[in-house]
Amino acid sequence: SRNTVLVAGSANLDFVVRAPHIPAPGETVLGGDFRTFPGGKGANQAVACARAGGARTRMLVALGVDAFANPLEESLRAAGVDARIVRVPDEATGVAFICLSADAENAITVAPGANSRLRAADLPELSGVSHLLLQLESPLDAVLAWARAARDAGVRVVLNAAPARPLSMELLATIDVLIVNEGELRAIAGEGGISAAVARLAGIDVIVTLGARGSCAHAQGEWLLQPAFEVEAIDTTGAGDTFCGVFVAALAQGHEFADALRRASAASALACTRLGAQSAVPAHAEIDALLVAGRPTSLV
Ligand code: RIB
Ligand code: NA
Repeated sequence: SRNTVLVAGSANLDFVVRAPHIPAPGETVLGGDFRTFPGGKGANQAVACARAGGARTRMLVALGVDAFANPLEESLRAAGVDARIVRVPDEATGVAFICLSADAENAITVAPGANSRLRAADLPELSGVSHLLLQLESPLDAVLAWARAARDAGVRVVLNAAPARPLSMELLATIDVLIVNEGELRAIAGEGGISAAVARLAGIDVIVTLGARGSCAHAQGEWLLQPAFEVEAIDTTGAGDTFCGVFVAALAQGHEFADALRRASAASALACTRLGAQSAVPAHAEIDALLVAGRPTSLV
């Protein structure tokens, strides 16, 4: 039977406006068209995992009872994610306001709404689950309880520590693989800087994503450098989520760590070439094609 990945986390409807640049405090900029896209770090990662193929993907997610929930539910369904949806009648479905600049950068503000109501007890039964994939858009006490339950059940725990929040030692102690970008790594390091981060992360496999420079990892005692694949980026929203979802799908399929890193890197490059988060997630065949034909950039 195929391995199963369970993603527990957020879903947001993304409200996206493209602008010449991200406004400074107090500034108003005239942007372009307004569009909505299914998003939220948890749901983006679940969709990426499911579309990567090879592993069954389940998700625990909370939605409001409103019209914003519909496209989110539909996007999970269309990707083949088996979702357990907690309905929250007195909170709105999560939304994210995203300003997208001409150079493909973004600034995101999230109103978590229903996502803030997920609880420890909402975690589904873990039988058949090989990997639990978590982010930090859910209540931290629930994230910790889920990670502990998974660890106790022999399930591998992968945490994408996004958005950046300080992490407790208790949570770090439950994790097998941590995926962060540079800003999120700084948040973990806190006042103690890099040496504190290194001490806190001892024993955990760590991947640091470096945007257009690729990624580096310290796993099973070895350093790995994965250059980025060269693409024409128009929207980097959700590229990190695609990376996480595809990475865990590859692990669940039995790929080696370095191989999973390469697949994730190719997939996240493809995600930058299209608008939106879930709408930009590549399919299995596209990832394979880029791995064969793609040009990795020179070095990290
Ligand atoms: O990582 C990108 C995601 O962050 C967006 O889809 C938005 O909803 C926020 O959760
Ligand atoms: Na995108």
